[in-house]
Amino acid sequence: MDSSKNLAIVIMAAGKGTRLKSRRPKVLHEIGGKPLLAHVIAAASQIVSPENIFAVVGHQAEKVKAAVAATGIHFVDQTEQRGTGHAIQCAREAIAGYEDILVLSGDAPLIHTETLAALAAFHHAQQAAMTLTTAEPAEPTGYGRIIYRAEGSHPTPGAPEVSAIIEQKMLAPQQLSLREVNMGLYAFKTAPLLANLDKLTCNNPHAELYLTDMAQVLSAAGERVVAFHTDDPDQLLGANTIAEMMALDASLRLATAQRLMAAGVTIFRPETCVIDADVEVAADTIIEPYVQLLGRTRIGADCRIRSYTVVENCTLGDNVVLLQSCVLAESTIASGASIGPFARIRPGCEIGEDVHIGNFVETKKAKLHKGVKAGHLTYIGDAEVDERSNIGAGVITCNYDGARKHLTRIGKDAFIGSDSTLVAPVEIGDGAYIAAGSCITSDVPPGSLAVARTRQIVKEGWAMSQRDSLKAENARPDGAK
Ligand code: UD1
Ligand code: CA
Repeated sequence: MDSSKNLAIVIMAAGKGTRLKSRRPKVLHEIGGKPLLAHVIAAASQIVSPENIFAVVGHQAEKVKAAVAATGIHFVDQTEQRGTGHAIQCAREAIAGYEDILVLSGDAPLIHTETLAALAAFHHAQQAAMTLTTAEPAEPTGYGRIIYRAEGSHPTPGAPEVSAIIEQKMLAPQQLSLREVNMGLYAFKTAPLLANLDKLTCNNPHAELYLTDMAQVLSAAGERVVAFHTDDPDQLLGANTIAEMMALDASLRLATAQRLMAAGVTIFRPETCVIDADVEVAADTIIEPYVQLLGRTRIGADCRIRSYTVVENCTLGDNVVLLQSCVLAESTIASGASIGPFARIRPGCEIGEDVHIGNFVETKKAKLHKGVKAGHLTYIGDAEVDERSNIGAGVITCNYDGARKHLTRIGKDAFIGSDSTLVAPVEIGDGAYIAAGSCITSDVPPGSLAVARTRQIVKEGWAMSQRDSLKAENARPDGAK
């Protein structure tokens, strides 16, 4: 089983997931920030190339296909879901050209590539027609149980042979104590599988065709069926209910946190953090409690991400500080930048080296070059700000005219006084100075001062005389106003 052309992987993903009580197909429910099926495909793709992976889809097939189309795998339609055995019958043509297949469940996302490789190697070494993965979980109820051929009746040397898998509902009273269960991960030699696949019957409480019955069918046909025992049953956990799904999510996120900590990242109270499976963080970065790192976020070394900050699909350089309660999405933050607390970096921003963004600042599609400072209460949208410019408190780029968005360009070393509005499209030249409170509607040349507000009027003594006349009114005996 060394050449990948001889091995296909079938992922059963057609089921409705009735027990979830959800309108969404089960395999598209997410853990660790991505659909169950995407996790299974990722593990399978490490074993064979995507063109040798076939997902059996049925319930809301078009939605499922669309969600994972980018992986390049193939799909097989199981229009009516008549059981796991029927799912493989539907894949008959797809797998016919292969020597062996692995069968995975689209609802068991914690599977490791190493386990798939070990199963394939064991199956090959055992020269088995069917190899099923088994374990002894603390609670075997609900799983199919393994029945072995009677001792001494093994016709070939090697692992003991399995004669049947009995589903929970079919267990005889004396079989209820069996602890070894079917984990729903199999390897088959394709030829005997296909030769015997039509022998499956619906003779069970759900009137379905059970793939598990292939153990009995193949064994009865004189084929070799063996068990590949794993002592890590958690990897094969499925999610049949939302509660089980959330338990998988927690365990996957903890594994992700542990992977990052093993690589030198400090994560305080990792159980409070929400870190998606594909997030990467470099060594010596510190992540405080209640941080969320989502999607394809990449974080460099020596950063500090403070509590309650949420980062989605962003790339951060080294030595970046994100203070408390920031929200960042789809943007890049260069090394040495510091952001927050309470800042919002919306999609499409390029925050340059050593940029300082303070509290209550919002940016969108903004390119801030090296050393720019925007310390307080500012909106910078559809804008480019060149090196070292200073954006005062309360500055607003007026990028929207009610119909279209327009650009604001600010040169190097400019100073935008507090509470100014820059009505786009507008350009502020290098080194220009905008007086506080200005409403800038036309370009400002480099090096100049723009003042765009009414001149201050001072009426000396006015306030004093107002107060005196009020006092006189109130002092009248009739209290008349
Ligand atoms: C299955 C096994 C059980 C094993 C358990 C391990 C059978 C009959 N039972 O039970 O022995 O202990 O896994 O988790 O196989 N699917 C289809 N088409 C269908 C039906 C199901 O593609 O017609 C897919 C589902 O989407 C799912 C997978 O097959 O991804 C497993 O089906 P599920 O109904 O969850 O089987 P279990 O009850 O978990
Ligand atoms: Ca299941």
